[in-house]
Amino acid sequence: ATTHYHDFVIQETKVTKLCKTQTVMTVNGQLPGPTLEVNNGDSLVINVVNRAKENVTIHWHGVRQITTAWADGPEFITQCPIRPGGSYTYRFKITGQEGTLWWHAHSSWVRATVYGALVIRPKEGDSYPFPKPKRDSVVILGEWWNANPLAVIREAMRTGGAPNISDAYTINGQPGDLYNCSSKETVIVPVDSGETNLIRVINAALNQQLFFTIANHKLTVVGADASYVKPFTTNVLMLGPGQTTDVLITADQPPARYYIAARAYASGQGAPFDNTTTTAILEYKSAPCPAKGIASKPAMPPLPAFNDTATATAFTTSFRSPKKVQVPTDIDENLFITAGLGINQCPRGAPASTCQAPNNTRFTASMNNVSFVLPSNFSLLQAHHHGVPGVFTTDFPAKPPVAFDYTGNVSRSLWQPIRGTKVYKLKYGAKVQIVLQGTSIFTAENHPIHLHGYDFYILAEGFGNFNPATDTSKFNLVDPPLRNTVSLPVQGWAVIRFVADNPGVWIMHCHLDVHIGWGLATVFIVDNGVGEMETLQQPPADLPVC
Ligand code: C2O
Repeated sequence: ATTHYHDFVIQETKVTKLCKTQTVMTVNGQLPGPTLEVNNGDSLVINVVNRAKENVTIHWHGVRQITTAWADGPEFITQCPIRPGGSYTYRFKITGQEGTLWWHAHSSWVRATVYGALVIRPKEGDSYPFPKPKRDSVVILGEWWNANPLAVIREAMRTGGAPNISDAYTINGQPGDLYNCSSKETVIVPVDSGETNLIRVINAALNQQLFFTIANHKLTVVGADASYVKPFTTNVLMLGPGQTTDVLITADQPPARYYIAARAYASGQGAPFDNTTTTAILEYKSAPCPAKGIASKPAMPPLPAFNDTATATAFTTSFRSPKKVQVPTDIDENLFITAGLGINQCPRGAPASTCQAPNNTRFTASMNNVSFVLPSNFSLLQAHHHGVPGVFTTDFPAKPPVAFDYTGNVSRSLWQPIRGTKVYKLKYGAKVQIVLQGTSIFTAENHPIHLHGYDFYILAEGFGNFNPATDTSKFNLVDPPLRNTVSLPVQGWAVIRFVADNPGVWIMHCHLDVHIGWGLATVFIVDNGVGEMETLQQPPADLPVC
């Protein structure tokens, strides 16, 4: 195994897109940031130096961080932010994960422009569970604002309303040729005629689930979130922010250029969203000269409508592990956690300009009616490790205070969220089941729910209210997929299981970032093991303090 050393310099960079120039934060002046390429079993040492004007932290999305929670990265959860002028070195190892993950800033909306791919190839000496692809390309989907993204979210938090929607979706940082001033920079993904190619698709968009397709080519899904899956073939992918999907495509079409395209899957929501399409070009390297003629007018592939829940669900329920797996049974902790948006009354005496959600309210979001509040003077992991009192409470409820029709817009008394830094303690080694239940208070939406520090099996998902009497029979206990982010269906539920075998403090949140600021998160503390158990390492000497 190899140790890979990298320097990430966070800096203010002038970037021009859609004919307008913004100053945004980048890593080493690149957008997207550098692609990290490693083998399973390798270690990474990444020195992050903050030369920008805003705080930053970096999260290695999906990396298990076994015993290295200090390197996980979410601001005020496992570390204090790296202040302007500061630095911090993240040290961690890739254990048992192969495929595609990514990294992104985990501080306010910095991740809009601070993100990149983490490619994990098989352990040295091992091979892929499919024929070795000729080429291997990364396709990162993103979102771009004709504004500073930090200003966009700060304005929304000030007014209590929804943030401005993005001005473009992007592929590897480029909006593509359907947008103004963007066609010259449209990304080219090369393929060799007749060969099979691996394409690693990552959804790094801030607030949008996306459909993804490639004209005239079948996509054979072979992996997701750095776990292999039983291969299946589809025309269209749907990825929530945080999710990755590895696909094989065979370049078996007439040599030419073909569109790669992505656009919103916005489920049933009434909220506005960016309804544009981002493109890149799949280019046959062996294409003879006339292919250039075709290039000027490649055909746009069909993409599902923004509200095509049937297509999205057919895709998300197609995943299986490659073989039979050991699903945890004899559950120790059976949690029922609601996830959804809501609105809060305007605080008494507050100016109307700060209550710009409908009917003079402010948007909020919660899990089990608790709207999660980040601490500001400690990270939870530091507070837990050093026994600092008063930073969090351990009374996050194992189920909602009252049961109700989660798919209906019900009386306020049932869902009035409270604010707090409430965590849930899991015993080391506990076998955990979580029923995630979407709510439809104020608005029904999908929520891509991401858990740090773990991969989990997705046993089942469905629509309506989860019913233990009938829905447990739908659980796949044979070959469920292993993921780190589950697309909780609109007005529906999903059931996940994992063993709490990684000590640390781990946030679980909606990966639509606007929902994090509103409180759609909770935190699990898995206590340090002793004896036979994995033990959390000591905090690194350069860990930032608040
Ligand atoms: Cu990809 Cu908490 O994040």
